Amino acid sequence: MAPVLIWIPLVGLLTGLGSIEAQQTTLHPLVGRVFVHTLNHETFQHLPEHVAVPPTVPITYHAHLQGHPDLPRWLRYTQRSPHHPGFLYGTPTPEDRGRQVIEVIAYNRDSFNITQQRLVLLTGNPEGPLLPYQAEFLVCSHDVEEVLPSAPASRFLTALRGLWEPGELQLLNITSALDRGGRVPLPIEGRKEGVYIKVGSASPFSTCLKMVASPDSHARCAQGQPPLLSCYDTLAPHFRVDWCNVSLVDKSVPEPADELPTPGDGILEHDPFFCPPTEAAARDFLTDALVTLLVPLLLALLLALLLAYIMCCRREGRLKRDLATSDIQMVHHCTIHGNTQELRHMAASRQVPRPLSTLPMFNVRTGERLPPQVDGAQVPLILDQH
Ligand SMILES: *[C@@H]1O[C@H](CO)[C@@H](O)[C@H](O)[C@H]1NC(C)=O
Ligand SMILES: *[C@@H]1O[C@H](CO)[C@@H](O)[C@H](O)[C@H]1NC(C)=O
Repeated sequence: MAPVLIWIPLVGLLTGLGSIEAQQTTLHPLVGRVFVHTLNHETFQHLPEHVAVPPTVPITYHAHLQGHPDLPRWLRYTQRSPHHPGFLYGTPTPEDRGRQVIEVIAYNRDSFNITQQRLVLLTGNPEGPLLPYQAEFLVCSHDVEEVLPSAPASRFLTALRGLWEPGELQLLNITSALDRGGRVPLPIEGRKEGVYIKVGSASPFSTCLKMVASPDSHARCAQGQPPLLSCYDTLAPHFRVDWCNVSLVDKSVPEPADELPTPGDGILEHDPFFCPPTEAAARDFLTDALVTLLVPLLLALLLALLLAYIMCCRREGRLKRDLATSDIQMVHHCTIHGNTQELRHMAASRQVPRPLSTLPMFNVRTGERLPPQVDGAQVPLILDQH
């Protein structure tokens, strides 16, 4: 009985884990063309436990490049709210060619179940003619999520065809105006964030488009006047385009290639016979090091010896000095010396009476002395006789 009781939750756990096992989808984005992948209840059919989830269930998604925390640079993710679908969109550049695996985790916000999906993106070059004529429009009447689904995007292209020379139009890039420095609009009915849509074609621009993007038109915009829109705005009722922000790129004229660096100072002439050394010969730095260290050391030692010789061996000495001094000077010196000695000797033994002249105060005539307790400093040196 006991093993069965243990088995039931274990089986439940295993089937639960099984639902996390990733589904895999392969997609083929094209370099330079907009790529949109919708994440919704249909693309995550078995969320979470092999039962289709009703579309009212809120779901959020998290997408990242396999083995990395975030998406590749060219790919963006957006979702308005858990009740709306999520979108992975962007335009791959030539560097993004190849295989990229995006892992998407969907969270059921009601049951807190999760499921994972793996998107294998095989990015390749687009076929067909080049699209040298490219134009970018700022559509003010839409948020980015509203033009990412294929229906509004193709409606935009169809409407735009009326402003272009006949030919196929392709969506090249879609960016939210918020990602280009736009502001979140006030929560007023009808205000949208705006979205930049870039379109390319093999056929040239119409004169109408050229006029709208002309410098004259921009000058009028700068003064707050409407731009020069000479044709009928076929986008008008559905898409409100900011005609002041149309930019045209004509890549049919090849851009001048970057100039090669001209050889000047510091650039060697090209020499076909020059063969650069492949290996540098080993160099011995021992002698250099020894010379650098020993020469100053020896010099310092020499100077020290010279100084020692001058200080110790070149001393005059007392005898030599006495011999060089005249006798009279010597006698004079000896007398002073002797007297000093004597005075010092006398000062050491105070038994002898002090000479009168050294006493603090005495009367010149009577020899009378002041009582010794008087402080000499406050008594006048010579007493008045009266
Ligand atoms: C698409 O537009 C965004 C925003 O302007 C830009 O950063 C990105 O480089 C564009 N992609 C391509 C392939 O031009
Ligand atoms: C439109 O373009 C001009 C420059 O051409 C820029 O100054 C202005 O901010 C743009 N408007 C919007 C809403 O992006």
